[in-house]
Amino acid sequence: MLVCECNEIEYDAIKEAVKKHGDNLDAIMEETDAGTTCGCCLEDDCDKVELPLPLAIKKALEELAK
Ligand code: FES
Repeated sequence: MLVCECNEIEYDAIKEAVKKHGDNLDAIMEETDAGTTCGCCLEDDCDKVELPLPLAIKKALEELAK
């Protein structure tokens, strides 16, 4: 699932970053480069991607809590 179009970041990469950094957005951005170009995917309603970064982080936290 595409999370960041500019940097071609998929959900799996975000999930790996969340495993290390929890909900620390800055750390996740630094590690994956997601959200560091146009910034669209930092908004919940970004229509360039399937799963914008905040929603991807939320989903990962939910999955990892199981
Ligand atoms: S879509 Fe993520 S920075 Fe542009």
